[in-house]
Amino acid sequence: MTQENLESIDIVDPDLYVQRGYPHEEWALLRSKAPVFYYQRPGVRPFWAITKHADIITISRQPELFRSSQYLFVTVEQEGAPPDDMVFLRQLLNMNPPEHALYRGVVNRRFTPRAVQRLSTQVEQVTTEVIQKIVDRTECDFVTEVAAKLPLAVIAEMFGIPRSDWELMFRLSNSMIAPSDPEFAGSETIEETLERARMEFFQYFSQLVEDRRREPRDDIASTLANGTINGDPLPQFELLSYFALLIIAGNETTRNAISGGLYALIEHQDQFALLKANPQLMVKSAVEEILRWTSPVVQFTRIATADTELRGQTIREGDVVAMFYPSANRDEEVFDDPDRFDIRRDPNPHLAFGMGEHYCLGANLARLELQAMFRLLAERLDSVELAAPIQRMRSNFVGGIKHMPIRYRIK
Ligand code: HEM
Repeated sequence: MTQENLESIDIVDPDLYVQRGYPHEEWALLRSKAPVFYYQRPGVRPFWAITKHADIITISRQPELFRSSQYLFVTVEQEGAPPDDMVFLRQLLNMNPPEHALYRGVVNRRFTPRAVQRLSTQVEQVTTEVIQKIVDRTECDFVTEVAAKLPLAVIAEMFGIPRSDWELMFRLSNSMIAPSDPEFAGSETIEETLERARMEFFQYFSQLVEDRRREPRDDIASTLANGTINGDPLPQFELLSYFALLIIAGNETTRNAISGGLYALIEHQDQFALLKANPQLMVKSAVEEILRWTSPVVQFTRIATADTELRGQTIREGDVVAMFYPSANRDEEVFDDPDRFDIRRDPNPHLAFGMGEHYCLGANLARLELQAMFRLLAERLDSVELAAPIQRMRSNFVGGIKHMPIRYRIK
């Protein structure tokens, strides 16, 4: 790829993400030629593409200068898509200081390393249960039968949602994260899909809130339902948005790290053998490398609140910046041989969970789930390969694999 391509490269079109996966070549070009690049294309609201590790840190650490808004990620204008400024949910990711920290404080204690560690037995049990369902066979769809099950089970369990409703949570969170994917949208427009999913979520959570206000339990639903901001209960819209955020954020991302992680091990059988030879020792660094390699969140945006300079470019007040985490995680200035998947990599300062004010609330939980899953897979999978090509999700926001048929031998 050459410099002339800069004006024509595409890092936004969700169809490209379906066909080719992440545009790593394009990001590499941007990092080397135009790391703070003003991206202007028909049908896309112009934005600054931020592709370097250091610049994502700089922006994320200044939440007053680079504010979060309703416009969470850059996308293409599509028929039926909601307008950029539509208030769809009001949750942590679109809040700013000082309000943001007050809201984050409501559930923070449920996600500390110590609180999460207490869930480890439960997470291991669920992982074993999930794997148990595929042991009698030699082929399965790893995404729908394994990777999707674990994060959903864990977050639903933390919320105190009964098993009979887990499938509903899965369907609704899929519709919200990839409303334009034909598999989730059916014949509706994007706006209709989103609106229906939000309404169903809100109805469900309203009931849960009522229930937990009457009879609090030791679960996140009770913490939220009875939580306060400056002494007052959370307003209903913010409260229900919070439920939706945690269910969606907990589901989509971890699932994609699990399926993307196994895909990487299938493509790098030497690394799979290494992990199998020493699962206990390798699993931690392997999980960090899987996070770096898969980077399930493609981008988040911020809006500049004043004119400012970054690498000699003037970003104007009101401009959108989009931070591409998978690009930062292949930054050759930070990672040796960044295009090599190396489960021994250490140190591994990847930005898969972001940085600063909005650093992923569920990072400890996601790590626990990934460690449980890859420890078990390393111990029990004797061999694994693709049974058919993978199918990717139609999203430039959360990059994921929708289906991954595998053939395997398992103990
Ligand atoms: C591999 C799995 C995951 C990845 C890659 C991931 C990635 C991210 C990223 C990139 C951000 C934004 C950070 C920023 O703007 O600086 C974020 C925020 C967030 N994540 Fe995760 N996440 C994962 C799992 C989870 C899980 C399991 C939960 C649990 C409920 C969760 C809940 C959240 C929440 C609530 C936020 C918003 C935090 C805030 O705005 O203060 N995530 N995540």
